[in-house]
Amino acid sequence: MPAHVVVVGSLNMDLVVRAPRIPAPGETLLGGEFHTVPGGKGANQAVAAARLGARVSMVGRLGADDFATQLLANLEADGIDHSAVIQDASTTTGVALIVVADDGQNSIVVASGANMQVTPDDVDAAAETIAAADVLLLQLEIPLDAVQRAAEIAHEHGVPVVLNPAPARDLPADLLSRVDVLIPNESETALLTGLPVDTRAELEAAARTLLGRGVGTAILTLGARGAMLATGSSVELIPTFEVQPVDTTAAGDAFVAGFSVALAEGKPVAEAVRWGNAAGALAVTRMGAQTSLPRRAELEQLLLQQTPE
Ligand code: RIB
Repeated sequence: MPAHVVVVGSLNMDLVVRAPRIPAPGETLLGGEFHTVPGGKGANQAVAAARLGARVSMVGRLGADDFATQLLANLEADGIDHSAVIQDASTTTGVALIVVADDGQNSIVVASGANMQVTPDDVDAAAETIAAADVLLLQLEIPLDAVQRAAEIAHEHGVPVVLNPAPARDLPADLLSRVDVLIPNESETALLTGLPVDTRAELEAAARTLLGRGVGTAILTLGARGAMLATGSSVELIPTFEVQPVDTTAAGDAFVAGFSVALAEGKPVAEAVRWGNAAGALAVTRMGAQTSLPRRAELEQLLLQQTPE
C-alpha cells in the first residue's frame, strides 16, 4: 500500500519566459521561448509526491477558467485525488509570471487569485483525509489561517506536519510548535530567524534557532551545496548530486516532496534528505515546474549511481 501524502496548498499556471538574465528594475529585455506550465508550490509538491510513488490528495482552490481545467487535468494525469480542490467562479486561477535566466536562476511573481480564498472551513471539510494521512505537506501560498487549521488537525491525529515556509513570512509560535519538519531555503531561513546565513557556522546557528522555536527538525535547503539537517541531537550537511542546471523552478518543491515521500514510507530522516536532494537535483535538469518533476525510477537510479562525497 503506497504512503498517503496530503497537500494543502496552492495551484498556479506558470507563464514562463526564458531570458539571458533576470531584468534589472525598469529594464526591458528581449527574451526567448514562452511556455505555459502547470505550477504552484502546493500542486508541484503534490505532483512530485505522486510521481515518486505516494498516494496523494490535494486541498486547494482554483477559478472556474481554462487554466483551472488544465491544472485539474494535470493532477488527474498523475492520479492525484482532487475532490477537495474547489472551483470558485468569483475569482481567477492563480498565475505565476516567471523569468528563467540562461544560468537556470529565476524570478517569480504570483497573482494568487483563488489560492488566497482558501479558508479554514475548506480545510475542515477535508479533515478526515488529513487525519488519515502519513504526512501533511504545507507551504505559504494560501492564507495562514488555513495553513494553521491544517496543521492543527494533523497534529491532533499524530500525522507528521512538513512545512515549506515559502514564500517566507513571520510565523506564529503555535504554528511552529505543530511543525515536525520545517524546510526553508537560505533566504527564507534569514527572514524567519533575522540571522545571517553566509557561513556554515551561521547556517548552523540559524537552524538551532528554528529548533528553539519548537520545530522538531529543521532542514535548510542550500541549492548546489545540498541540505543542512538539524535535529535536537545533531546538525549535518548532506551534499547533493552534481547536475547541469537548466531551470531551478520547483527544485525546492521536488526536494520537499522527495523528503516527504521517504518520510511517509518510514525511511530514516537522513535517508529522506538524500531523497529530497536527488529529487531536487533531477528537477533542475529540466525546464518548467511540473514538467521537470522526476519519477521514482529515475530517482532510485540516481541514488544508486551517485553517492555524494
Ligand atoms: O516553487 C515554484 C512555484 O512557485 C512555481 O511553480 C510558481 O507557480 C510559484 O508558486
